[in-house]
Amino acid sequence: MIIRREHAGDRPEILAVVKAAFPEPVEAKLLRELFASREYIPELSLVAESDRGEILGHVITTRGWIGAEKSLGLGPIAVQPEYQNQGVGSALMNATIEQANKMGESTLVLLGSTDYYPRFGFVPADSMGITSPDPSWGSHFMALPLAAHKPGLHGQFKYSEPFNAL
Ligand SMILES: CC(C)(COP(=O)(O)OP(=O)(O)OC[C@H]1O[C@@H](n2cnc3c(N)ncnc32)[C@H](O)[C@@H]1OP(=O)(O)O)[C@@H](O)C(=O)NCCC(=O)NCCS
Repeated sequence: MIIRREHAGDRPEILAVVKAAFPEPVEAKLLRELFASREYIPELSLVAESDRGEILGHVITTRGWIGAEKSLGLGPIAVQPEYQNQGVGSALMNATIEQANKMGESTLVLLGSTDYYPRFGFVPADSMGITSPDPSWGSHFMALPLAAHKPGLHGQFKYSEPFNAL
């Protein structure tokens, strides 16, 4: 398996993986909107590809903000059901973190399972002074300080535009 940037022709296969991984159509719709948004970042739309050229998983990270400062919002991430729990999601997460660090980004933020993301270094965002767009998300709203993180970076997180329509 390799992790690489998405190619233009990958999108139908990526969307099929997302539809298979999530029971509701909301994530596939969100992903289509993220692909078309101003906040799309080509270097942070990554696929996991098998040796046979099959797309096993995908993760996207788009521009977000903490107050007026640039940040990143990760998601959706999806792995084809028959390939879950085999390290594909972890490889996509680690590649995203590595790439975001290379790009000199400060923080990576997401909404997700408190059983999964802490293993990559994510902590409750409010413990870093980053407040959630929706207080009901509680500790599921998490953040990872990257190499260029400045400890004084506090404020409310704002996702890219398509998230606001959810
Ligand atoms: C969540 C997901 C991306 C993880 O990718 P993966 O390749 O299955 O995960 P990995 O093989 O890297 O890691 C396996 C570990 O993740 C845990 N895990 C898998 N899916 C999980 C989930 N939805 N919530 C919490 N933990 C999860 C497994 O229990 C396993 O834990 P262990 O290492 O303690 O045994 C993938 O399972 C998926 O696409 N799920 C459906 C869509 C989804 O829920 N996306 C995330 C929304 S926050």
